Amino acid sequence: MTPAGSVEQSRIKDELSFRGFALLRDLSEDSAVDSVNGLGDVLLRTDICPKANARGDVSTDLPMDLHTDHPRARWIAWHCIRQSSEGGESLLVDSVPLIARLTNHERDTLRNTQARTHLVFPADRPTHSVLSPVKEGADRIYFAPWLISAEASQPLRRLGSLIANAERISIRLKQGDLLVIDNTRMLHGRKAIRGDRDRLLRRYWISQVVPSVTSIPISHQQ
Ligand SMILES: [Fe+2]
Repeated sequence: MTPAGSVEQSRIKDELSFRGFALLRDLSEDSAVDSVNGLGDVLLRTDICPKANARGDVSTDLPMDLHTDHPRARWIAWHCIRQSSEGGESLLVDSVPLIARLTNHERDTLRNTQARTHLVFPADRPTHSVLSPVKEGADRIYFAPWLISAEASQPLRRLGSLIANAERISIRLKQGDLLVIDNTRMLHGRKAIRGDRDRLLRRYWISQVVPSVTSIPISHQQ
């Protein structure tokens, strides 16, 4: 296992800016924590282990459709402690070229479309807009597959169709790998976990600007 130095920190930030994700190989737990802390404040750390047929649960071993996580998590990092003997590939889709294909009318509608969010932190609001404009570049995205229902608006269905047909980046994490994504740009999902299902990913939700009341500082794990 190698330590993550300042060069690696710089590379993570460059890759997040350029392509929306970064993958570091063979990191010790302390190095992974250093990399995570270099990105911002950790809102939440969760150990994710598969449970058979845990539908709708973060720990399901079933395939997970493409989505974004909690909107206050600007970055998500997964450190692979151990991987199942089969399956479990992480899937990523970049929303930037998809949003670019929407019409101005569709983008405007989605900026005014509120999607329900999970209430996790004390100051959470119950909804968040599907698209949020920024000063420069593509809108930030908040998306969940259940948004695409029979009642969904035409712009939502168009966005859902673009996501469903987008080319996926498939990454099978190995022990020591740290995958970091921009949660406001990259949709993520996962293929089914098969084989021995002896898998543990340590997930970090990271915020760039965090109100101190909800920040959960972490230290190196013993
Ligand atoms: Fe997720």
